[in-house]
Amino acid sequence: MARTIGDVETVAERFEVTGGARLQGEVTITGAKNSVLKLMAAALLAQGTTTIRAVPDIVDVDIMAELLRRLGCEVTQDVAGEVITIDVPQQLGHQADYDLVRKMRASICVFGPLVARCGEADVALPGGDAIGSRGLDMHVEGLIKLGAQVKSEHGYLHATAPSGLQGAHVAFDFPSVGATENIVMAAVLASGTTTVDNAAREPEIVDLCQMLINMGAQIDGVGGSTLTITGVSSLSPVDHTAVPDRIVAGTWAIGAVLTRGDITIHNARMDHLELPLEKLKATGAQVSPVVDGFRVTMDQRPRAVDVATLPYPGFPTDLQPMIIALASISEGTAMITENVFEARFMFVNEMVRLGAQIRTDGHHAVVRGRPELSGAPVRATDIRAGAGLVLAGLVSDATTVVTDVYHVDRGYPGFVETLTRLGADVVRTPDLDAS
Ligand code: UD1
Repeated sequence: MARTIGDVETVAERFEVTGGARLQGEVTITGAKNSVLKLMAAALLAQGTTTIRAVPDIVDVDIMAELLRRLGCEVTQDVAGEVITIDVPQQLGHQADYDLVRKMRASICVFGPLVARCGEADVALPGGDAIGSRGLDMHVEGLIKLGAQVKSEHGYLHATAPSGLQGAHVAFDFPSVGATENIVMAAVLASGTTTVDNAAREPEIVDLCQMLINMGAQIDGVGGSTLTITGVSSLSPVDHTAVPDRIVAGTWAIGAVLTRGDITIHNARMDHLELPLEKLKATGAQVSPVVDGFRVTMDQRPRAVDVATLPYPGFPTDLQPMIIALASISEGTAMITENVFEARFMFVNEMVRLGAQIRTDGHHAVVRGRPELSGAPVRATDIRAGAGLVLAGLVSDATTVVTDVYHVDRGYPGFVETLTRLGADVVRTPDLDAS
């Protein structure tokens, strides 16, 4: 698999998806990308060796490992890549450069820990991406509330807090995942008490808080929308296993319904996917628990269901492209509403190339289902759009060629291998047409 770390060149690849198969079999989910990246950043808060387990074998983890190395950490991965150890020195660097940050926006999650540990941080601004402008105002305002001085200059956010951070009241306009994480990671080492109102409640934030508590942090209200953090003077390294990836599990669940298949998903938390699984039941699918996960079976054409994305516990925006793929072949018309990212319908034009009947108006998409889609060349514009397009290819006639698949590799460990095991006809090939 091609890897993009530091200055290493990428080999462009594509997926050739031949539709028609029913996905059947078993999959086992690893730790969540959106948790592991933040857990790795949290390791910066304690000198010594932190171990993180259930790490997915994906490019974003490699990018975060490289970022931590450049800050002075020693990062090692076991052969399977599932266990990462991060040896954090007493004296850390405080600069995250553009060449890595532009490859992975989540690099911004080192901002809070660096200000807390070093009293200063220089983190490159990530720039725009294919799902919208994605501001950082709440991250910045939160840190300013905690006493940091923050300015944006020459493409970097510079923050300083020479005499440390002080606890404060932070109220977010919107429950931003990234801003909640940055402020929590900064506040655990601040002096005094911080209250975060309208905090995001995603399971990955709960996971982060649990690791921080094991490190010695004092956080009350975990899982709720008000967090109270009492700062401590230092934290200790820990051994932590990441929460299973609900978005990967949800992707396979939707794949089962879409292809009228039967997939048992192990190491998956039904309670983290309540609304998506309710929606899948409403399409006519059967969803039943198994010891360590759940099973999704479908034996008829799915019925169209309306979906609106919202912060957790609402329907996850990261499953929206897959639900659009599902609506595209469902019986009837579905209204899909995107409430989290302003430009997350950009990939819809690619779905339309597969024959999907979709009209968008602002943050609504009206999807009229057809019995089958029509294979065509399409381009993955981000991780989840890429996964949605591959799923759509599975219910298309002929072959769908998905390019720019490095996006998919950023979020899904062994995507093609898993699909193949489930019976799909998908191959990864070099993209000789890519410039
Ligand atoms: C994280 C996830 C991403 C998921 C998203 C929402 C990671 C690495 N990524 O992204 O997969 O889709 O949560 O569940 O965990 N916003 C501002 N100002 C800010 C911060 C956010 O305007 O300071 C806006 C964003 O532009 C966006 C919305 O708030 O429209 C949600 O963003 P946020 O919850 O922060 O998502 P991320 O942490 O970027």
